[in-house]
Amino acid sequence: MNAANVNDHMNGGEPVSAALRAETLFRERFGQGPDGAWAAPGRANLIGEHTDYNDGFVLPFALDRLTVVAAATAAARRWTVCSEARQECVDFDESALVPGGVPGWAGYVAGVIWSLRQAGYDVPGASLAIASDVPVGAGLSSSAALECSVLGALADLGGLDLPVGQRPVLAQRAEAEYVGMPCGLLDQSASVLCQAGQVLFLDCRSFEMTQIPFDATAAGLTVLIIDTRAEHGLVDGEYAARRQSCEAAAKALGLRALREVDVEELPMALDRLPDEVLRHRTRHVVTENARVIATVKALRSGDLAGIGPLLTASHASLRDDYEVTVDQLDTAVEAALAAGAHGARMTGGGFGGCVLALVDTTDRDRVAGAVTEAFDRAGFTAPIMFTTPPGDGARRLW
Ligand code: GLA
Repeated sequence: MNAANVNDHMNGGEPVSAALRAETLFRERFGQGPDGAWAAPGRANLIGEHTDYNDGFVLPFALDRLTVVAAATAAARRWTVCSEARQECVDFDESALVPGGVPGWAGYVAGVIWSLRQAGYDVPGASLAIASDVPVGAGLSSSAALECSVLGALADLGGLDLPVGQRPVLAQRAEAEYVGMPCGLLDQSASVLCQAGQVLFLDCRSFEMTQIPFDATAAGLTVLIIDTRAEHGLVDGEYAARRQSCEAAAKALGLRALREVDVEELPMALDRLPDEVLRHRTRHVVTENARVIATVKALRSGDLAGIGPLLTASHASLRDDYEVTVDQLDTAVEAALAAGAHGARMTGGGFGGCVLALVDTTDRDRVAGAVTEAFDRAGFTAPIMFTTPPGDGARRLW
């Protein structure tokens, strides 16, 4: 069996490392120290995929990997934003604050400023330096981490009265309306609202939320995150197409959103849908919402290993009914299950990105080895694997 390398927590460093790098970058680029540093994490979603924009349920947790922005106010109403990863600075003024006005990675930053201004906030000019330990393009919400860290920085620098509960929506509008990726509320809610040691049970219609304790370690379990390194491309049409199908299905059923279909009513609802694709998409959304509820019930009763079959059923539904998996995701899930995982599923939007597998801690390295070996056999790029305890949401570091 191939040796597989699993990184515990941070991939090559402590959570503080992105903070130090952001501060160093700020000093290099702006020739002075920042006023402070703000962080926001990436996320994994335990279960509840493609349910958020159907007004349904999600159950994410924050990673202990952070995006950090070191920032200071600027004299004029201009924004200069430097990225360690991109090795560049982008500078823009108010004229760029129209959807799509700043292209590329800096658009997420401009989008947050645009979104705040749309909501009536007076955003100060600022210099910003960004460093991140959240893998980019791996379906772990690096974009939400960027938006939410920048939002925190601008809120504090401008002394804006911005209740935490409103922040996810403002960050989500930056992505959906300024950048043009029609996402739901999952990623930004996770990045802002998650708490260490918990998964966040969020009703995306009422915005009611409950923190559910999730201590896998105490139960002798590990959530292994497998980055398949199949780059996901959500901004392309596939995500938007799924969303449109759901809206069309809800409309055909005379509902505001598919969330309103109970799993018991599913056969009747399917009979009323005019086409095969809409029936498949609807079946995924309705059964996935039911799986989130069942997962929460199992966690509340202390049966962590018991959620395994729900995770695996979620993956099958995303593969067969929602059609958002790729070979690497399916291979990782199959290899993890064959090696003894309690359950495994893709996490995030799909079309690439990560799988999470719930394994006995004693089996962790064996499962990781089996996945690496399966990728090798299939001729895929070797996966990267890591573990992370559920971390805290966005915060000011200093
Ligand atoms: C992406 C989107 C989220 C959510 C997931 C799928 O991560 O940004 O809003 O729809 O896909 O659950």
